Amino acid sequence: MSPSLQAYRASLLYFTNDPAFDEHATQWHSDGLLLVQDGRIQAAGDYATLAATLPPGTAIEDLRGKILCPGFIDTHIHYPQLDIIGSPAPGLLPWLDNYTFPAEHRFQQPEHASEVADFFLDELLRNGTTSAAVYCTVHPQSVDAFFAASHARNLRMVAGKCLMDRNAPDFLRDTAESGARESEELIGRWHNKGRQHYAITVRFAPTSTHEQMKLAGELAAQYPDTYIQTHVAENTDEVNWVKELYPDARSYLDVYDGYGLMRQRALYAHCIWLDDQDRARMAVTQSAATLCPTSNLFLGSGLFDFARADAARVPLSLATDVGGGTSFSMLQTMNELYKVARMGGTYLPAQRMFYLATLGGARALQLEGTIGSFTPGCDADFIVLDPQATPLLARRSATTDSLEEQLFALAILGDDRAIAATYSAGVRVHQR
Ligand code: GUN
Ligand code: ZN
Repeated sequence: MSPSLQAYRASLLYFTNDPAFDEHATQWHSDGLLLVQDGRIQAAGDYATLAATLPPGTAIEDLRGKILCPGFIDTHIHYPQLDIIGSPAPGLLPWLDNYTFPAEHRFQQPEHASEVADFFLDELLRNGTTSAAVYCTVHPQSVDAFFAASHARNLRMVAGKCLMDRNAPDFLRDTAESGARESEELIGRWHNKGRQHYAITVRFAPTSTHEQMKLAGELAAQYPDTYIQTHVAENTDEVNWVKELYPDARSYLDVYDGYGLMRQRALYAHCIWLDDQDRARMAVTQSAATLCPTSNLFLGSGLFDFARADAARVPLSLATDVGGGTSFSMLQTMNELYKVARMGGTYLPAQRMFYLATLGGARALQLEGTIGSFTPGCDADFIVLDPQATPLLARRSATTDSLEEQLFALAILGDDRAIAATYSAGVRVHQR
């Protein structure tokens, strides 16, 4: 065995399926050992079994008392909105006009974009997020800056240039033709370069013309292994606006469907105001819903309907939607997700929330077997959770009686302080 073998002793948590539909989905080793070789997971199991297989003299990092789990996957976030997180507005549309669009204007300057990208990536890693699907701005240079920063750190990231050729200020508009051309050039420069992946990024239906939507659909067909990301059915004012702009569509989601934008690797943010026909289309096409609870509560957009989504078997994942979302922490995002579900009459176990933040995200990205789990061969992107991170969390953790209670306490009380360390491809990239 090569000297690059790394061994970590701690509790291990990961998933092999959605615990809502499979009682054997949760993998838990209370006294576990994680083996990493050349940036990949080699094995995960009980310490007593695996330690006996190690070559004599192998160093084992002792992290007993901590929980190792796959790095979080945030399937919807805007890096250009870093500086406007926590900006007040009465709803989505005024928030876009008053804060978001002016902030995005600055990303025509590559130096600004690079500086923000670096802070943004640091913040993701501090919060235990090792992969994300990221919106850049309309400016191709904002995408180059983001991918350059991510590639330099060897992080696995999905990102793309916003397509927006109407209903936005002049300084944020492309044209149908320039948007498609620039997207294609970016695909050529970045898609599958190391761990970088391109997402065709229609911002949302109101800011694209029919011509732009059509060209986006053609690109998506021409490059079937690229991602697609957009917003859908977030806010009732937005839904009504889409009805006016696309009177022939059956629903908001049907607008995208009509242009060929529903398929595997398509990520649909929010999905609050869908109907059952829409949900059935999500499931049939294996398009994934990216749930953004802190954003939906902050902007007053609405409550995601878990019962109906699960009945239709819509693929689900979890996302922060910073800067409409109010925290980079996927733990804080679970906290709000739990409450959104409760308000809709659904009880969401902690194990399902951790699934959504790890393997659920990997599945939404069609990257199961690559990230989001500890099955052998996965990228060694993992985090060290500290159940004693704060006095209150330590006190609560001391009296939890089950795995579920411990994870629940982390989801409700945890934040960036509960991330003791973050590893990407086997390299420690953050330590508290
Ligand atoms: N819809 C269109 N653009 C945006 C955005 O930047 N944030 C959110 N939350 N919704 C959007
Ligand atoms: Zn968003």
